[in-house]
Amino acid sequence: MRTAEARISANQRIAEEIWCMKLDTDLCAEAECGQFLQVQVPGFYLRRPISICRCGKDYAVIVYKVVGDGTRAMSEMKEGETVSLFGPLGTPFPVEDRDVLLIGGGVGVPPLLETAYRYRAKGRNVTAVLGSADAASLILEDEFRALGCRVYTATMDGSKGTKGTVLDAVKENGITETFVLSCGPLGMLKGVSEAYTDGYVSLEARMACGMGACMGCVVKSRDGGSLRVCKDGPVFRIGEAVL
Ligand SMILES: Cc1cc2nc3c(=O)[nH]c(=O)nc-3n(C[C@H](O)[C@H](O)[C@H](O)COP(=O)(O)OP(=O)(O)OC[C@H]3O[C@@H](n4cnc5c(N)ncnc54)[C@H](O)[C@@H]3O)c2cc1C
Ligand code: FES
Repeated sequence: MRTAEARISANQRIAEEIWCMKLDTDLCAEAECGQFLQVQVPGFYLRRPISICRCGKDYAVIVYKVVGDGTRAMSEMKEGETVSLFGPLGTPFPVEDRDVLLIGGGVGVPPLLETAYRYRAKGRNVTAVLGSADAASLILEDEFRALGCRVYTATMDGSKGTKGTVLDAVKENGITETFVLSCGPLGMLKGVSEAYTDGYVSLEARMACGMGACMGCVVKSRDGGSLRVCKDGPVFRIGEAVL
């Protein structure tokens, strides 16, 4: 983990209020799937934690939703500008030698793309269930298909795929895989944690240091202890953290 300036090679809107930023950087050459970067948006004191969506020895891709001033300012950054990154941070998703079901909701989908890539590279079957509020905010479906994943979608308004939640899509499509990796809104992760016992969920929390020092991102563990989302997570075994 270190800090580095990265050149923005592209920053484009890909869905309703959702942007994809491509960065020239070697910072993520050794990154693992499910890890994140702390992005220093010019003019903002606290770095913004954003998951690594794809990465390689000389690039990283992040996909982010505009929800406040920091992400709004990110969306206004132009190709050729530089941005300071700190990372890669956090405990990753495991890449095991077995088939996997990926369940993502909203902007929880991006870290699952690099995860899908790693499982496909091992020759494993990957089923991805991607959820969003509506078709206009559904992201990365084509990218999962391009990796050879079996892809299902769910939208709350029924404008694409199953009408309802990602778990409704699992039921409707008779998906039987039992090893699950999931990232998305808290309500969705609670549902996933009730439906599955074998797998991992990736959590969000407001962060300051991003590296385990300030205790600003603590959640409760099942046994009453404390877990730092930035360092002990963001990926936790299902049931490890109290959601
Ligand atoms: C490990 C991790 C990975 C994430 N990955 C992604 C991703 O890939 N794509 C994406 O769109 N979003 C992701 N988020 C959420 C993202 O960090 C926030 O949406 C973003 O920080 C909001 O910044 P803002 O200035 O626009 O919003 P504001 O509401 O103005 O932010 C005010 C402060 O609260 C913090 N904050 C606000 N919402 C969140 C949140 N949901 N989680 C953590 N901090 C928050 C901000 O960082 C900032 O310090 C991730 C969060 C975490 C913890
Ligand atoms: S953000 Fe400082 S300990 Fe997690």
